[in-house]
Amino acid sequence: MPLWYGGDYNPEQWPDDVQAEDVDLMRRAGVTMVTVGVFAWSWLEPAPGRYTFGGLDRALDRLAAGGVAVALATPTASPPPWFGLAHPEALPVTPDGVRLSHGSRDTYCVSAPAYRDAARRIAAALASRYAGHPALALWHVHNEYGTTCHCDLTAGAFRSWLRARYGDLDTLNDVWTTAFWGQRYTDWAQIRPPRATQYLPNPTQVLDFRRFTSDELLAAYAEQRDLLRAATPEVPVTTNYVLGGWVPVDHARWSREVDLVAIDHYPSDAGPAAEEETAFAADLARGWATHGTGTPDWLLMETAPNLIYTPGRMHTKEPGRMSRHSLAAVARGSRGAMYFQWRAPRGGAELFHSALVPHAGPDSRVFREAVTLGGQLTRIAEAVDGRVQAPVAIGYDEPSGWALQAPALPATGLDPWTEAQRAHRALWRRGITADVIGTLDGDLTAYPMLILAVHYLMSDAQAAALRTWVAAGGHLVVTYLSGVADRHGRIRTGGYPGALRDLLGVRVEEFHPVAAGSRVRLSTGDTGDLWSETVHCTGAEALASYAGGVLDGRPAITRHGYGAGVAWYVSTRLDEPGRDALLATVAAAAGVRPACSGLPPGVEAVRRVGADRSWLFLLNHTTTDHEVDADGVELLTGAAVSGRVRVPAGGAAVVRTAA
Ligand code: GAL
Repeated sequence: MPLWYGGDYNPEQWPDDVQAEDVDLMRRAGVTMVTVGVFAWSWLEPAPGRYTFGGLDRALDRLAAGGVAVALATPTASPPPWFGLAHPEALPVTPDGVRLSHGSRDTYCVSAPAYRDAARRIAAALASRYAGHPALALWHVHNEYGTTCHCDLTAGAFRSWLRARYGDLDTLNDVWTTAFWGQRYTDWAQIRPPRATQYLPNPTQVLDFRRFTSDELLAAYAEQRDLLRAATPEVPVTTNYVLGGWVPVDHARWSREVDLVAIDHYPSDAGPAAEEETAFAADLARGWATHGTGTPDWLLMETAPNLIYTPGRMHTKEPGRMSRHSLAAVARGSRGAMYFQWRAPRGGAELFHSALVPHAGPDSRVFREAVTLGGQLTRIAEAVDGRVQAPVAIGYDEPSGWALQAPALPATGLDPWTEAQRAHRALWRRGITADVIGTLDGDLTAYPMLILAVHYLMSDAQAAALRTWVAAGGHLVVTYLSGVADRHGRIRTGGYPGALRDLLGVRVEEFHPVAAGSRVRLSTGDTGDLWSETVHCTGAEALASYAGGVLDGRPAITRHGYGAGVAWYVSTRLDEPGRDALLATVAAAAGVRPACSGLPPGVEAVRRVGADRSWLFLLNHTTTDHEVDADGVELLTGAAVSGRVRVPAGGAAVVRTAA
């Protein structure tokens, strides 16, 4: 099966002669799949119930004739202008009560019946027209679900969701701690979404509104999925996740509802951190997939071929980087390498966004690199048979991140995403592959080592599962501010880290947030920032203690033997050398090994393992050539490799080996 290679394709933006050229260029570049129709609603339904599918028919027929498969999108992320005029109540309302107007995209209220009806109708019309079309390979529902609304329709849906969750108001009042500031509700009708308010909002109301929004969006997705499945049971259905702290989508939960996890990923760094971000996002997608769909396969649905958004400017990717990022995604389990977008638009809101066919046209560096990448993906397609081997899991809990966006916390910058990324980076640099998992509710037995990154919210069941897993031999690393609150964000009293005290063998008496720009010193010579704590060992031994300041001599990093396993606690945000050393120690204790030994700094290594052979992906992010131990066949060049393989500066090698 070929890898999926291509990107968002918008025939609605181009005349027929350009579309004909598009398919020729796709064939030249080895493109195997394009995503069509993402924002095409006003093209397909220019007036309510009047469908004009002729243009899409021609585009899909031409793609099929050119051998290019289609991920056919439902266009429901961008309702046409007529929709908002006909259904003003279906336009979204901000927390300040401002109803937004048409003029951008994502302008709808997902709880509005008129929107849901219209979305189902256009999805059903597409399903019935294109079921059986030879180009159709994948359904791409909507685009980047994430729109929030605070209108009265949303309020009604929120109340229904709360009733289903809590049953009665006493329970809701209890879990929302409405006794604080006299917020007790005596009638469901009094409950609203968290709108603009006088001072600090109720944090559990805000957290529950995020969860509700995730579920409401998921219900809208599932409606479309179900009707698409009914029309074409053999075609998988997905939606592309957008990543970021603002996104009100619980991706771990959603991953149980999609046929294939698909992510959009745009690294935000111009330097080497972009490679680390790419690897992190890929490992997160694979983690969601593994514990969601039940298969580690996922798909990089969008990334930028060239310009990357960085603060204040767009950064032009250096030659070779586009291809390396795509190969890194495939190395880490992606079913392919898809881009936003195929051809750069002439106008519109994102007119300078990069594309495989840039404004300059096919006579350009980027298109030539796209052709090179197409060839590379063809040569490594067999690696799809291999499964990524990840001996480590990093627990990244999205709802904990949401809870930690509340104001009035002991420090700002408390963020599981960043903390998980830091742990991931330390492993990445050592060539150790990790699944970044969004839930602790799945099967952990495959991992000898687990890192919990600021896992602030924790249920009793999750804590119990961790105890069982460690007792059976697991090596658990827990960072500060984990297990402190229950799933409703209520603090577990009696000492932090609440749910994990006995497992970690520590009791934390109080927090000492560290001033911005300051650091605490440890007995090991390492330092920490952001956070520190008064830790008492209640069974654990101190591996490092604070040196100087009010915590002088008190434990900072601890180790607790628990059954056949070990639980380690880190009470500050360790600097890079400290984190690196600790995770190396734990990895060694857990018997975790890198994908290959003797890896030069700046060379990334991932192994996909098949039944009787494996594929070692080596990505050289440096500006000098490097050699790495390997035997087999290097697929990009076709050369036999014996003992050492050369990985060119800025390039890659994919070695098929016998075992
Ligand atoms: C994605 C989105 C695309 C495009 C792209 C720009 O998040 O799905 O439609 O806007 O960002 O980077």
